[in-house]
Amino acid sequence: MAKKIPARARRALSVLTAGVLAAAGVVSLAGTAEAAGTLGDAAAAKGRYFGTAVAANHLGEAPYASTLDAQFDSVTPENEMKWDAVEGSRNSFTFTAADQIVSHAQSKGMKVRGHTLVWHSQLPGWVGGLGATDLRAAMNNHITQVMTHYKGKIHSWDVVNEAFQDGNSGARRSSPFQDKLGDGFIEEAFRTARTVDPTAKLCYNDYNTDGRNAKSDAVYAMAKDFKQRGVPIDCVGFQSHFNSNSPVPSDYRANLQRFADLGLDVQITELDIEGSGSAQAANYTSVVNACLAVTRCTGLTVWGVTDKYSWRSSGTPLLFDGDYNKKPAYDAVLAALGGTPDGGGDDGGGDNGGGNTGSCTATYTQTATWNGGYNGEVTVKAGSSGITTWSVPVTVPSSQQVSALWNGAPTWNAGNTVMTVKPTYNGTLAAGASTSFGFTVMTNGNTSAPAVGACTAS
Ligand code: XIL
Repeated sequence: MAKKIPARARRALSVLTAGVLAAAGVVSLAGTAEAAGTLGDAAAAKGRYFGTAVAANHLGEAPYASTLDAQFDSVTPENEMKWDAVEGSRNSFTFTAADQIVSHAQSKGMKVRGHTLVWHSQLPGWVGGLGATDLRAAMNNHITQVMTHYKGKIHSWDVVNEAFQDGNSGARRSSPFQDKLGDGFIEEAFRTARTVDPTAKLCYNDYNTDGRNAKSDAVYAMAKDFKQRGVPIDCVGFQSHFNSNSPVPSDYRANLQRFADLGLDVQITELDIEGSGSAQAANYTSVVNACLAVTRCTGLTVWGVTDKYSWRSSGTPLLFDGDYNKKPAYDAVLAALGGTPDGGGDDGGGDNGGGNTGSCTATYTQTATWNGGYNGEVTVKAGSSGITTWSVPVTVPSSQQVSALWNGAPTWNAGNTVMTVKPTYNGTLAAGASTSFGFTVMTNGNTSAPAVGACTAS
């Protein structure tokens, strides 16, 4: 049976350009939006965002962009906002690649996480060469310039990243900032950040802090101290890079909760879990469930769109494989978020849908296909009584786009992917009589068939 079409359509839709094509009465429609049943929509229904790290140099790859655009509602530049990328030489700023990601995100209605302002890694050599006074000025200047450039466009900033050592000392990590400015550099970075963009959530971000241990205890103590003294911190990010040596901790939820109980938001910021199949899926489920169980866990970000470009590609740690197929981990995450599959092939059986709820039926056939598109036709047939109007829901996979429709009038529920089609001139059908409407779809790399729901008549 055809699945139900979720009514949620979260993102602002781009303007539909509609015009009547000559001769055939074809309505041409263009626009983009995301169907319900995606990670972003499902998370939004739970009051969370679902993001991914993005690399600017992959945005031109069609399936990369279409997977990103269809599934996620927040992006984190994977490297493009780091110090070495934006300020390779002192006070000379380059935002080209990061801007590309931010513009892409904005054009698709996605939010942006800023990553990261002060970090010991991917730090250009000149920073380490500065004396304390200069270093303090350079750090505050860096925060100020970068946050000013993106002011109002970033929902959360990783102000300081990875400032604590691994192991059980709970000590600070050696870095130019730590070694020359002392413990106070983190507080100073947060205070500067708040003055620059008061609307962004200011986060401390780290790894191996996902469960309770000496490192997370040290971050917790710092966060608690900041809250008590009014140092402006809003959230703690948990990178959550997991594998067999560093599995999802059993006290993950409890650990998130104790930070939330300090009056902070918590975010899963760089999630990836090495593995495959049902074991990987189960681990993802536990992470999503932990976030959903903590009211102040405001969102999750996976560290990449596809295994192909993961920084840990040999561990295949992401939700889409190297060919952009959904993995069991994807289905598990969507299910944990309460979502439903979006018509990617498991929704209609062999005939892909069609249905009968009362006095009409709808049957789908593909009538033409070519590289990049196809035509579909839905035959509407009256049952044992005559009807005067009918209505058929049609959903194409969210990466596809309906570009034309004839012999029917669409009401769009989510951009050009989820529509309810009603008759134009062809509503009245005698008992057993039929009519049809047709449409053209641009596949954008996804050739799955549309889901055609049950016909309703009156
Ligand atoms: C990684 C990127 O994914 C790689 O492309 C890059 O070569 C190194 O950095 N913690 C972080 C991220 O905060 O910025 C890191 O990203 C992964 C670990």
